[in-house]
Amino acid sequence: MAKLAHAQWSSRMTFVLAAAGSAVGLGNIWRFSYLVGDSGGAAFVLVYLACVALVGMPVLVAEWMIGRRGQKNPINSMVDLARQHGKSPAWALVGASGVLAAFLILSFYSVIGGWSLNYTLGSVIGTFSGQDADGVSELFGGMLGDPTTLLLWHSAFMLLVIGIVARGVTKGLESAARSMMPALIILLLILVGYGVASGHFGEALAFMFQPDWSALNGGVVLAAMGQAFFTLSLGMGIMMAYGSYLGEDVNLLSTARTVIILDTAIALLAGLAIFPIVFANGLSAGEGPGLIFVTLPLAFGNMTGGTLLGLMFFLLLTFAALTSAISLLEPVVEMMEERTSMPRVTATVVSGITVWLLGVAALLSFNVWADFTIVGLNIFDLLDTFTSKILLPLTGLGAIVFVAWCLKRESVEAELGLSATGVSVWNVIARFVAPIGVVAVFVAGLI
Ligand code: PFF
Ligand code: NA
Repeated sequence: MAKLAHAQWSSRMTFVLAAAGSAVGLGNIWRFSYLVGDSGGAAFVLVYLACVALVGMPVLVAEWMIGRRGQKNPINSMVDLARQHGKSPAWALVGASGVLAAFLILSFYSVIGGWSLNYTLGSVIGTFSGQDADGVSELFGGMLGDPTTLLLWHSAFMLLVIGIVARGVTKGLESAARSMMPALIILLLILVGYGVASGHFGEALAFMFQPDWSALNGGVVLAAMGQAFFTLSLGMGIMMAYGSYLGEDVNLLSTARTVIILDTAIALLAGLAIFPIVFANGLSAGEGPGLIFVTLPLAFGNMTGGTLLGLMFFLLLTFAALTSAISLLEPVVEMMEERTSMPRVTATVVSGITVWLLGVAALLSFNVWADFTIVGLNIFDLLDTFTSKILLPLTGLGAIVFVAWCLKRESVEAELGLSATGVSVWNVIARFVAPIGVVAVFVAGLI
């Protein structure tokens, strides 16, 4: 019954690397730290961790399960499975909204990937060495205010993504991820060590883990849940697509645990690296999307060997961003190839250019279009908010509800390899805890 045309990951390790390559990216370092700072610290962090465990883990497993059972792209897998279980083919919407989310996210993701590229070059030419807090803030502000610079780097990043996807060489990157991931962790540990030496590590630790629950409100909870989806690449059909390449022998639960621990550890390390620098230099934790771009150059600009370390760090960050961006474009391209029978290169270029255009609108919202807002949000924030707080959780909810309520118990048993008690525990979490959690967060966030 195995479809020969549909290749499988050669081993569990390859699969973990591919999934981690998609998961670990700007979300862990850029987005996580700026949201923690914006939302007042520990309360956000703890809700985020709860969302990862109670919602993220089951949704990740559910998406892989749909992919492995369906053996097709997200939309067709949903159609097939729904049909086999006597359900409406309208479940395909779950796959389709995922592809839409991927498309929208990539547009602004590429803008930030461009910042990371720019800062890689800045490290090489020593732009940051010896800068003080005002200096790095000015450099960052200068970049934001200059549409040409932003356009240049956004285009460079997008060109890299298009080039790699068009040539279909994404598999080669996964083996590179094998050495990049540990290198990124080591650099983060060096930065954490730098923070400890600065004498402000305790403050950062308290900021991240000693909750002031009065900082908590519906908006913060919704942001934390959105981040859980974003960082694990959930609600985009990506993990579904990956699941379709997954061999029957791979254990979904333990694999999900590995990927989640890695992703979460990198985010927490990033926070522990960044907040000591914030407090040591009297910067504002609520700086917003520029947080890592004003804190890290300050550290690299003033530590021994900082030029080389800064170069390595931003290079690794760019690489992590690239592997995630590729995983975002890949399903869009695949769908276009299948639906329109366009050749791969054409499909990649057409979708890449469309994403690039949307990214241009996003980058202009930092300068010339700063005052153009819809429901109080500029284009960049609108893209980010609509995807992470609405599209991703809704798609993820669809995936978990489908798996929990529509698949047969035997299928679930076979997929998870659990005992009868294990399946019952899974059922409680997948049928009630996770979906009710998502809905409750939605309601809280909207009020
Ligand atoms: N998970 C990636 C990150 O944390 O940077 C971002 C991302 C990649 C989101 C792929 C969504 C996705 F489909
Ligand atoms: Na992530």
